[in-house]
Amino acid sequence: MTDFLSVPFYDLLAEESHVPRIRETLPPVLEGVRRSILEIGAGTGLITMSLAEWTPAEIFALEPSAGMRGVLLSRLSGRPDLLERVTVLPCDALSVNLDGEPVEAVVMINVMYALEPGYRKRLWPVLAAHLEPGGLLVFTWRGGGGGGAPAPRPLQEVHSRQVGRHTYRVSLEIVESTEEAYKGRYLYRITQGDRVVSEEEIVGHGYRPTWETLQEELVSAGFVQSDAPEGLLAWRRT
Ligand SMILES: C[S@@+](CC[C@H](N)C(=O)[O-])C[C@H]1O[C@@H](n2cnc3c(N)ncnc32)[C@H](O)[C@@H]1O
Repeated sequence: MTDFLSVPFYDLLAEESHVPRIRETLPPVLEGVRRSILEIGAGTGLITMSLAEWTPAEIFALEPSAGMRGVLLSRLSGRPDLLERVTVLPCDALSVNLDGEPVEAVVMINVMYALEPGYRKRLWPVLAAHLEPGGLLVFTWRGGGGGGAPAPRPLQEVHSRQVGRHTYRVSLEIVESTEEAYKGRYLYRITQGDRVVSEEEIVGHGYRPTWETLQEELVSAGFVQSDAPEGLLAWRRT
């Protein structure tokens, strides 16, 4: 789950990293989706708002972190039209309850890294059960051909963004890694010139399955792979 310390940085940095690309690649994958979408790990709603623009579907935006959800609800509160068709579910993905109504599509953007392998394995059948037959599951995949966790590397700045006189900076060190898991040390800093205004460190684990593992999990949960642009994977419930 996203640490509350990182929430103020989230939109600033996401708008300059994965979000613009997702806004290009996701719409064609969702073509034809008109009735309902479940978004897992909706975060601050950057993708949620786009889903609502691209499709007329009812959206269930699931987000367990109160900090991230607060920004999402704040964003929605300025859009009374969307308040009528976006339901925010304050729970984690395994606890999703859609009142027995299967959805047409499940969207999960930049969330899988947060799911511990045992949790992820249990999640696919749960998502399959919430999808209508033939329903679409689409999520981000940064693994290239083989997947797997990134190799250890020293601390380096991965994002920075100017806000008035301050610069918001995030640096990441991959402290250690195994085949599927890695330990990351994140440094969230606000600076003004040479002066450090604030500095917070978050150490946590991330996960990236190998392609073989992921494929096996999805096939045994009843999914078949379909076409998707680079950076996304699309699967359909059989
Ligand atoms: C990097 S953010 C991505 C947010 C949004 N999808 C986007 O692309 O802007 C990852 C989100 O996944 C959520 N998350 C982490 N574990 C989760 C779980 N078990 N179930 C649902 N969401 C989870 C976090 O709280 C966080 O908001």
